[in-house]
Amino acid sequence: MRLAVLASGTGSILDAMVDAGLPVNLMVTDRPCLAVQRAAARGIRATIVGRGSFGDDFDRDAYTRRLVEVLVAADIGLVAMAGFGTVLAQPAYDTFAGRILNTHPALLPAFPGWHAVEDALAHGVRVTGCTVHMATLEVDSGPILAQEAVPVLPDDDVESLHERIKTVERRLYPETIRAVMDNAAGLIGGTA
Ligand code: GAR
Repeated sequence: MRLAVLASGTGSILDAMVDAGLPVNLMVTDRPCLAVQRAAARGIRATIVGRGSFGDDFDRDAYTRRLVEVLVAADIGLVAMAGFGTVLAQPAYDTFAGRILNTHPALLPAFPGWHAVEDALAHGVRVTGCTVHMATLEVDSGPILAQEAVPVLPDDDVESLHERIKTVERRLYPETIRAVMDNAAGLIGGTA
């Protein structure tokens, strides 16, 4: 099963997937970002599907259709979002139903959205964590596949807490993707 990673940040989770031996076939981003260089350094084809040509009001459906075309052309079977900065629209879930995964830096359903680490700190929680889940049209709401708790320390700021969470994500997300791929291979082979 061919795997694509969607990323918009530093690409440290992408790196961890490669380190874990996952066969990443393609990295797609929505903007110039460090993840492009990380992909290049690991010999992974990187494609930018920029948001710029999709109108001032951002035509999310058209953007998603373009992204899906890129994924389908690369014969991708499983999509792993790792800090991807664009919310995908229905066409992604039509084409890749049950085959888009996401990692989120909080214990969902707590702290969904783009500011999960800031929100956890602002609420004064003592424990947060990360969640790997199947992505659905509703952001950060799909079925949970794996979760792990991470302590919040008294002198944490957003950066230190996010880095502690990412340390866990770099292990948990590749493990979970591997399990999903093995399960899919078993189903195709008729052994599961
Ligand atoms: C990860 O912590 C991931 O959970 C988060 O972006 C980071 C990517 O790290 N995703 C979200 O916040 C999505 N809502 P990286 O750029 O170092 O790979």
